[in-house]
Amino acid sequence: MGSCLKVPLLLCFIYYCLIIAVDGKEWPHLSKIQPSTAPVVQAAAVQDLVARLIPERQNEFQIHVDPLLSTTGRDTFRLLKKPGDARVFVTGSSGVAAAAGFNFYLKYSCHSQISWEANSQLSLPQELPQIDTEITSPDRFRYYQNVCTLGYSFIWWNWSQWERHLDWMALNGINLPLAFVGQEALWQRVWKRLGFEQNEINPYFSGPAFLPWNRMGNMRGWGGPLPSSWNEKSLALQRQILDRMRDFGMTPVLPAFAGFVPRAIARVFPSANVTKMTRWNNFQDGFCCPYMLQPDDPLFAKIGALFLKEVIKEFGTNHIYNCDTFNEMEPTSGDEKYLVEVGYSTFSAMTSIDPDAIWMMQAWLFMHDSFWSKERAKALLTSVPTGRMLILDLQSELSEQFTRLDSYFGQPFIWCMLHNFGGTLGLYGAAQRVNQGVHKARKMPNNTMVGVGITPEGINQNYVIYDLMLENGWTSQPVNLTDWFGQYSKRRYGFENELAVKAWNLLLNSVYSFNLTNIKVRGKYVICRRPSFKLKPIIWYQPLSVAKSWDSLYELVPKHKNLSTLQHDFVDVTRQCLQLLGAFYHSQITKAYRKKNLPDLRKNGEMLLELFVDMDSVLASNEDFLMGKWIRDARSWGDNNKESDLYEFNARNQITLWGPQAEILDYANKQWSGVVNYYYKPRWQLFIQSLIGSLVSGESEFDQNTFNQQVFRSVEEPFTLDKKQLPIESSGDFWTVANATYSKWRPRFDRSAVNFLTRAMKRNVGQE
Ligand SMILES: *[C@@H]1O[C@H](CO)[C@@H](O)[C@H](O)[C@H]1NC(C)=O
Ligand SMILES: *[C@@H]1O[C@H](CO)[C@@H](O)[C@H](O)[C@H]1NC(C)=O
Ligand SMILES: *[C@@H]1O[C@H](CO)[C@@H](O)[C@H](O)[C@H]1NC(C)=O
Ligand SMILES: *[C@@H]1O[C@H](CO)[C@@H](O)[C@H](O)[C@H]1NC(C)=O
Ligand SMILES: *[C@@H]1O[C@H](CO)[C@@H](O)[C@H](O)[C@H]1NC(C)=O
Ligand SMILES: *[C@@H]1O[C@H](CO)[C@@H](O)[C@H](O)[C@H]1NC(C)=O
Ligand SMILES: *[C@@H]1O[C@H](CO)[C@@H](O)[C@H](O)[C@H]1NC(C)=O
Repeated sequence: MGSCLKVPLLLCFIYYCLIIAVDGKEWPHLSKIQPSTAPVVQAAAVQDLVARLIPERQNEFQIHVDPLLSTTGRDTFRLLKKPGDARVFVTGSSGVAAAAGFNFYLKYSCHSQISWEANSQLSLPQELPQIDTEITSPDRFRYYQNVCTLGYSFIWWNWSQWERHLDWMALNGINLPLAFVGQEALWQRVWKRLGFEQNEINPYFSGPAFLPWNRMGNMRGWGGPLPSSWNEKSLALQRQILDRMRDFGMTPVLPAFAGFVPRAIARVFPSANVTKMTRWNNFQDGFCCPYMLQPDDPLFAKIGALFLKEVIKEFGTNHIYNCDTFNEMEPTSGDEKYLVEVGYSTFSAMTSIDPDAIWMMQAWLFMHDSFWSKERAKALLTSVPTGRMLILDLQSELSEQFTRLDSYFGQPFIWCMLHNFGGTLGLYGAAQRVNQGVHKARKMPNNTMVGVGITPEGINQNYVIYDLMLENGWTSQPVNLTDWFGQYSKRRYGFENELAVKAWNLLLNSVYSFNLTNIKVRGKYVICRRPSFKLKPIIWYQPLSVAKSWDSLYELVPKHKNLSTLQHDFVDVTRQCLQLLGAFYHSQITKAYRKKNLPDLRKNGEMLLELFVDMDSVLASNEDFLMGKWIRDARSWGDNNKESDLYEFNARNQITLWGPQAEILDYANKQWSGVVNYYYKPRWQLFIQSLIGSLVSGESEFDQNTFNQQVFRSVEEPFTLDKKQLPIESSGDFWTVANATYSKWRPRFDRSAVNFLTRAMKRNVGQE
């Protein structure tokens, strides 16, 4: 509301009347959600962003923010470049809208791209192209983040990394981001104030890499205890992040109390009505099952209020709060009265401190539809007034819930693309569904959709699909995907080229055309998993399409060897092809063992191990695929070696064992140089040796259980405890490595490999 004070009061009054008239019929609280900084502040923040991106051209862009540009409450930007004037005038109804307009101009007039990784393509034409355009977003909100994204992608970031990413958010029009860094510092204070001892708090907080699941009550303590220096530093970081978000005119979403409490609550408040959470993913007693305070216990309101007061004191507020009480956890009772009570208590704890509070909830829980019948969902969703909940329909591209739940019974919702689980790296996307679903939902009669969003568990993979999705925030009809993917290649590489267009259309029509309901893509690719005979390739596309895309890129690279976006894509497609071939060798190894064919077993075993060596080298040749950076960033948070060692352990465990005893083994696997060489390869080496040993001795059959214990003890756990320093810069000459890898492995897509992969594909899509 700060902006209001800075513009003449009458204008401001008219402005809000207009918004409420158009968008606020049903949800006045939601309509009141507006940027909390003055337009001049927002304009300056975006002008600084331009300066960071293109310092030598910054003066050619004039950024303005004028809230009156929008008469509907929906963000609008206007772009104007007249002949004879060197400057491009960018006006937005908010800072975010201006940044989105600037990016629109970079993308569509200058054919540039700013993606997640450092390799942007920003070669602007000498004379900037003319333009005269105005675009209004069809919805109020463009949301970003899953509560897990912090854990899988951002947890080790420092301010430089955040700053770049916040720029990216603004450029893509994100006006509703989650701001979930640094809340443990506040919880620490709250628990202390309530009378908990430090030694009662320590077993509760998990290590940094596992905080999202600790916060959701899934488990406690694993990877901890959390050093106090972590809390102080992340608190400072969160303040920087919030300032920047608000300067851009974003509405950061802050945390609220969901009910989870340390076990010692039984000592501090003996009469508290708590429930022990059910075991999540087999976590054992020391780390599982925190307590949940019953929402109707008066202590719930007290703790909820204490925490929120602390949040607002430290962070200020924009009135939207997120908490998820039943993430992958069944409520203790299915009684609708109870569910109403839960919803009402959670909300009341918020409004007791902030009367304008809006509760944002991830609708992931409703995926569990055997518990969440329509009646039960309705009980929870209608327990608070309409418009005081904001629902994230979390994976709308594949399993929308808003249709089943009648547009959340009147609560506003956001159509979100989840796409990624665990930050795994396979090429994958549901382009057709993303392209059509949003527009279909907007046309649904009486729908309550108020925005679009992206909710990946991890980023830095499949950028193309996020670029496609985010454009839905500014368009009102589907695009021609063939054309769009062609243009994407032009923006990504900075030139129009038939080979590039062909490569990207081959990918569009294979990996990016996922549309199946019988298989779920969760990054569980054969080579990334603990060896076993049972593994099956996850493939829904013609394998040769990907190999042919590899061919096109291979032809293209020699002419543009130094183009970092092309290098990245070549490495990524190479990685994908090797991943496919790895699944083929696994099948051959299995077959040879079953037929007791020792020479075949040895031959295919050697091929697979060579494949790992080559995969690691090709990944090592590009700085976007290095485990060393993940470790470096983790260690950088430590104030001393002991802390850095703890963070490195967190970082290594999360991407491998995910828990003390491989509870969520390889869920967040990474096809990174370092992981391939020191984790996947030795695992498979042990597997192959065991099989050979069994055939040679002819005595005992391979035993999976024995192998599991052995591989845990000799490879997996040691990897998580290791401290080997890994490169943080690319190594090897890119083209030498890339060409050698391609030349050696491309011919391996022979008839038997392709037949095997095609059969697997046909099984998955139900043609066989
Ligand atoms: C953040 O980390 C990166 C990578 O290590 C480093 O280059 C940069 O200087 C760091 N920034 C700050 C503000 O410490
Ligand atoms: C604890 O909460 C549950 C759920 O609301 C309720 O059924 C139960 O009676 C409560 N127990 C006590 C001791 O208050
Ligand atoms: C996805 O597949 C279903 C079932 O085959 C089909 O009805 C639907 O049109 C497809 N969706 C898209 C976007 O291609
Ligand atoms: C939409 O809402 C109107 C007014 O409440 C109602 O008459 C109509 O039946 C609804 N349409 C659908 C398809 O639900
Ligand atoms: C999309 O564009 C391509 C190439 O421009 C064209 O061949 C194709 O017919 C278009 N598809 C549709 C559905 O319009
Ligand atoms: C390409 O990169 C290499 C290695 O970094 C460098 O030696 C070479 O000069 C660059 N070539 C061009 C054309 O920029
Ligand atoms: C790629 O490698 C192959 C095999 O080593 C070699 O014959 C060929 O000349 C190389 N091609 C280029 C363009 O460097």
